[in-house]
Amino acid sequence: MCGIFGIVTDAEQPLGPILTDAARRLTYRGYDSVGAATISGGTIDLRKDAGRVDDVAEKYDFSEMTGSRGITRLRWATFGTPSQVNAQPHLDSDGDLVGAHNGNVVNNVELRQAFMAEGMTVRSENDGESCVHAVERYLDRGLDFIPAIQNAYQDLEGDYAFVIGRINDDKLYAFKKGSGLVVGIGEGFTCVSSDLPSILPLTRQVIRLEDGEIVTLRADQVELHSVKDGSLIDRQPEVITETMASVQKEGYEHFMLKEIHEQPVVAGELLHRLAGDQPLVRQIVDGIAKARNVYFIGCGTSYHACLAGAVYAAQLAGRAVIPVMAPQFAPQYGNAVQPGDVGVFVSQSGETKDVLNALEVAQARGMTCFSMANVIGSTLTRKTEAWLPLVCGYEISVPATKTFTNQVISFLYLAARLGGVEDLDFGQLPGLMAETIRITDPQVQALVPKLNTWENLYCLGYGATFPFALEGALKLKEITYSHCEGMLSTEFKHGPLSAVTDGFPVLFVAGPEDVPLIISGINEVTCRGGEAIAIG
Ligand code: M6R
Repeated sequence: MCGIFGIVTDAEQPLGPILTDAARRLTYRGYDSVGAATISGGTIDLRKDAGRVDDVAEKYDFSEMTGSRGITRLRWATFGTPSQVNAQPHLDSDGDLVGAHNGNVVNNVELRQAFMAEGMTVRSENDGESCVHAVERYLDRGLDFIPAIQNAYQDLEGDYAFVIGRINDDKLYAFKKGSGLVVGIGEGFTCVSSDLPSILPLTRQVIRLEDGEIVTLRADQVELHSVKDGSLIDRQPEVITETMASVQKEGYEHFMLKEIHEQPVVAGELLHRLAGDQPLVRQIVDGIAKARNVYFIGCGTSYHACLAGAVYAAQLAGRAVIPVMAPQFAPQYGNAVQPGDVGVFVSQSGETKDVLNALEVAQARGMTCFSMANVIGSTLTRKTEAWLPLVCGYEISVPATKTFTNQVISFLYLAARLGGVEDLDFGQLPGLMAETIRITDPQVQALVPKLNTWENLYCLGYGATFPFALEGALKLKEITYSHCEGMLSTEFKHGPLSAVTDGFPVLFVAGPEDVPLIISGINEVTCRGGEAIAIG
């Protein structure tokens, strides 16, 4: 998700500490590089590199940076590897503009070629630099800043937000299309950021930008324009009175609900990240392809993702994989592991002790170990040969939601690459997920009174949906404190069926290929007076 932050103050002052603090507040969104720029009169001071906020800030003495305008940016690599040159902010050709973006400019490659052909100095592979050159292009043709941004918007395809400033000026400009952007108004300063929580420690007076809006920030005033026709937009600031925790929930009753609704966005971020990091994907896919035996290892929800991953590897790539709960790995397979085997260790936190113990045993036996994790810099990511980031930002709710989704999508993506399956349209996924959440919400609400009087439930699946039945059962137990058993639907008739009484609800998770089988399972339940609920 990454993040940008910009500030304009009424006097020259040490901005480095303010920018470093703002960057720290954005770290939960995930990043691999950090940069800060300050503008003081006719000078831009730009310092950046790959690494953690505190390390980069210390190495490059961010604390010394002064000015009346500043920008900081945390980058998570998509276009271009994590490196100093690709880190943001970026300069224009002559070094008198500086800017940073958040999001994805999807026509970045074509734009870079066009900028170079026009004689501009392009230093990095990063799409944030394209935002700066897109504005430079029109300023150089003599346009003012707002019309230059209006024209740049026509050139930059994708979803993004950017902030940009120029020497010998007293303003910053920011633009929103798709990615979040909030303006803060304080005593003697204004600021803009990717999210509200990073602004609140500075001021509670804010303006939320809509897509297609340009904001001009002066120290004592902000002005909004429409990107379409440049017309002035009148929007009064709102005062945020909620606590930080409720602000972070963004209007949702609790974090789990918020994180469920974040799934389409983080899925899109993940897919973009995977597409942009093909060497990493190839390394893991090649490792799995050449391996003697392959193990997918995790606990709880992450183990259920491993189960789904094993189904995809077999179905899409004909590759048999052993999914295993981490604590069972050493006792069951410890002796069997040999060099030439590959393990993918899966964990949201990257710190689950059972997973790290299994990793230690696997590495001692010479296994090649990869991982999938959400928390950057966690032990698992540091101890494995290569790791796939889950790109979910903070998952505050203990019940895993968006990280499970992205674990499953990562496995599906790897399996498709492994099997050379070209016709899976991953691009459709985020939209379909958003639509699914939207249309199922009323049905879910209607089911609650039916389910919440029962102390025992079953959740059944088959084939590709079996892991999801297990995960659904885990979620129901974890959240309702009632018992729910996840099971293969075909096993239900071998005993558990006798639990079905009048009105007893049984949940079925059905994939399209298994509908006839699931229908026969449903019949077994309904003919005993039970109530079947199907998710398909
Ligand atoms: O951080 P991890 O993914 O390694 O955690 C493993 C399990 O504790 C975790 O998946 C747990 O089952 C979920 N939070 C349940 O929703």
